[in-house]
Amino acid sequence: MAYSEKLIDHYQNPKNVGTLDKSDKSVGTGLVGAPECGDVMRLQIQVDDATGIITDAKFKTFGCGSAIASSSLATEWLKGKSVDEALKVDNMDFVEELNLPPVKIHCSVLAEDAIKAAINDYRAKNGLEQIKFEESV
Ligand code: FES
Ligand code: FES
Repeated sequence: MAYSEKLIDHYQNPKNVGTLDKSDKSVGTGLVGAPECGDVMRLQIQVDDATGIITDAKFKTFGCGSAIASSSLATEWLKGKSVDEALKVDNMDFVEELNLPPVKIHCSVLAEDAIKAAINDYRAKNGLEQIKFEESV
């Protein structure tokens, strides 16, 4: 099976690996696990409260190459987007961009779920209502 160059690049040179300050009110943290394999992903966003724009994003993923690549790509996509736009990122966007094979689709779902969890964490910290998401896949 041939993995795409983009996938390999994000896996070998992941962008935005790291940690944002959890105690900061403008930081949202999403921590999710894949029931399929036990891999874990943490994705964080920093939101500019005045504009609702995501100014920074970081991740740490304990998982397979596809999960690392999906989260790396996610952090790149998130920066500069509004929270509302970020909500529209769909796991299939990762599948298409990275050309993930079917057995690796759940890895992209992890990234989508981590974005949503980070947004809800940010909302909770700022007294905003939780968004209810339908199950992905
Ligand atoms: Fe998750 Fe292989 S099952 S890394
Ligand atoms: Fe489980 Fe990729 S996240 S194999």
